[in-house]
Amino acid sequence: MIYADANATTPILPEVLDEMLPWLREGYANPSGSYAAAKSARAAVELARERVAGLIGAEPEEIVFTGCGTESVNTALRSLDALAGSGAVVVSAIEHSAVLRCVENLSRETRRVAVNAGGSLDPGAYTAALDGAAFVSIMAANNETGVIQPLREAVELARARGLPVHSDAVQAAGKIPLNVRELGVDLLSLSAHKFHGPKGVGALYVRSGLRFEPLLRGGGQEAGRRSGTENTAGIVGMGAAAAGAVRYLSESGVATVAAMRDAFEAMVLSEISGVKVNGDVARRLPNTSHLSFGQCDAAGLLILLDEAGVACSAGSACMTGKQQPSHVQLAMGIAEARAKSSLRFGFSRINTMEEALRAADALKKAVEKLRRVQGPGVGPVVVYSA
Ligand SMILES: Cc1ncc(COP(=O)(O)O)c(C=O)c1O
Repeated sequence: MIYADANATTPILPEVLDEMLPWLREGYANPSGSYAAAKSARAAVELARERVAGLIGAEPEEIVFTGCGTESVNTALRSLDALAGSGAVVVSAIEHSAVLRCVENLSRETRRVAVNAGGSLDPGAYTAALDGAAFVSIMAANNETGVIQPLREAVELARARGLPVHSDAVQAAGKIPLNVRELGVDLLSLSAHKFHGPKGVGALYVRSGLRFEPLLRGGGQEAGRRSGTENTAGIVGMGAAAAGAVRYLSESGVATVAAMRDAFEAMVLSEISGVKVNGDVARRLPNTSHLSFGQCDAAGLLILLDEAGVACSAGSACMTGKQQPSHVQLAMGIAEARAKSSLRFGFSRINTMEEALRAADALKKAVEKLRRVQGPGVGPVVVYSA
């Protein structure tokens, strides 16, 4: 399989797994215990905290481990909701459903701010939305298009009005450098499985001094900010993955992955007619390619690509199987028919240049085949797999 769906999830790297395994075998002691085995589990958790803090320029005590990115987001937004005064919550229209579904369930107005055709937060609409707002949540980079949002500018405008800001950085972390001090955010969500760590472990940055209300109450773990016995192996894996991501970002890793994405896209654009790259190409995550083909249904393409051994997604992984075009593309003004022909490719350091070019070739063949059977006005998609 050519795995080109790194925005959905990434594989655990062997060196990450090696660090995790002892904590699944003999290192089972509860990190809150008082004996030697418990103390070494505690030390492993604290090392992971330092490593995750290092990925985003935070202090270790500002990191709270959670059960996933979704939990981090919900914890942050529920805490802001509980402690902020009256007023609206301001989010971008292209947030992940973890943010959108959470704010819909708060007893306050939600203002969804428009994005421009390039998939980037509209500064005028955003500034207007801040009037009478209580807090803000803006993602660092979009999971579908990869477009990097003007987060620092958004934080500055919010802070000038005394509004706290959460950022969903689940998709950006490990793909581009992030520094919470430079960004000025109050809360920031991360998920290990997006940067070659295990699934089911996340982290929330909580700025030192910020008032905070826990979502999960109980035994008081994580300095009372997230109760529940720590997932030692998962947390160790997240720490190892964060350390790996720091190396990846500081060495030539990003450029290598960007070169694969660019070669893939160059081949697709030169060999397939009518393709559009969605999102501001100059401000994208270096690994992401979001393409629409027109006259070619994404669901059909996914089947043909799967048969050819290429894994990618239509829109976002969460949207696959749903017939509606994604809210992200609609917010960017992409017509519904075109949006339904979109695919997202996400490359990572497990890929090779040769794989990227083979994926482009498989895509070309899939589009040609589908267009042959599905010409204009042909009606429902029929995919011949022979
Ligand atoms: C931008 C964004 N936020 C949040 C999430 C949810 O993260 P998790 O799968 O760890 O709950 C995802 C995962 O797809 C994401 O891409």
